[in-house]
Amino acid sequence: MIIPVTLKKECDNSYEVTIDDLGIHGFDTKVAIVTNTTVANLHLKTLLSRITAKTLNVIIIPDGEEYKNFKTIEYILDKMFEYKLDRKSILIAFGGGVVGDMTGFAASIYQRGIDFIQIPTTLLSQVDASVGGKTGINNKYGKNLLGAFHQPKAVYIDTAFLKTLPQREFNAGFAEIVKMAVTFDAELFDFLENADLSNSDMLTRTVAKCVQLKADIVSKDEKEMGIRAALNYGHTFGHVIENETNYSEFLHGEAVAIGMVMANKLACELGFMTSDEASRVKRLLQKYDLPVSYTIKDIDDFYEHFFLDKKSANDKIKFILPKHLGHHAITSEISEKIVKKVLKHFGDN
Ligand code: NAD
Ligand code: GLY
Repeated sequence: MIIPVTLKKECDNSYEVTIDDLGIHGFDTKVAIVTNTTVANLHLKTLLSRITAKTLNVIIIPDGEEYKNFKTIEYILDKMFEYKLDRKSILIAFGGGVVGDMTGFAASIYQRGIDFIQIPTTLLSQVDASVGGKTGINNKYGKNLLGAFHQPKAVYIDTAFLKTLPQREFNAGFAEIVKMAVTFDAELFDFLENADLSNSDMLTRTVAKCVQLKADIVSKDEKEMGIRAALNYGHTFGHVIENETNYSEFLHGEAVAIGMVMANKLACELGFMTSDEASRVKRLLQKYDLPVSYTIKDIDDFYEHFFLDKKSANDKIKFILPKHLGHHAITSEISEKIVKKVLKHFGDN
């Protein structure tokens, strides 16, 4: 006997991203803001002056990727119970990608899921992490291996928060902008080559362009069954570099910058990209002081690491490669021999 469970789409998860207008918000529900020690010291007062709610609490977590784990999620959930949040309550993620990913994950599991709002305060989280509903934490097996797709109810981006962001963090966020330009938008790439992002108008224009690109991609492929995987350009190589260096030498965006240089070498080898185009990408990364070289100590070991990537399936590695500038290819059909030939170029000769 077969009994179907027919599920109609329960609700529309669409939402808006508001740029450079933080607004003033009155909630008739209980609200808790989740932030970290650094962002709380710098910007919490500003946010608190703009929010009223039935009850308003703040949950402050320690700062750092090393705290993106179950222990911190448990802490957030405990506080949510302590503040008696109910199923109508709202969490607000106020911080960079680490706070955003963890707040979203806590919201996705608290009493089987409550709403949350993203207010991102780093360049990386404004152009990428706050939009699209990927939430999660790390564990001893790797990065972001536990999590859920849980879309925010709204995203409020204010580029003014970036004024206090350390330059190195800003540059790491820029790597994700380059990622989007190379894979999806040649015009954005040309613009970035000539733009000065210390100019606030150009910065807002760039953030808005990236959000628009990401919104379009997520609208087409919310759960990464296809085109959304292209946002992992540079990440397949970058994750191995982060792992090999124990997450201590490079910021995520820096490892992605090196990863894009490696992916470009592979793309050149396959005739997807010219060496002139690859050099333009490298120069753009260098304009923001991003690292573009890395010495692989053990090629075989580096190659084996690819199989831990979430995109790898059926013993095949999925590579995201640029096709010239502004386009990309997603392929699992590149031979080990060609990949290792490219890796040797970065080897310890
Ligand atoms: P982060 O959240 O660690 O922030 C970087 C540093 O900047 C931290 O020390 C933070 O306290 C500080 N900071 C934040 N805002 C600040 C401000 N306005 N002024 C001064 N300091 C400020 O790192 P990140 O680069 O924002 O995010 C990286 C994380 O995002 C990783 O965990 C990554 O896995 C995740 N990520 C998620 C997605 C997604 O789609 N969900 C996409 C990309 C990255
Ligand atoms: N940052 C990649 C994604 O959201 O899919």
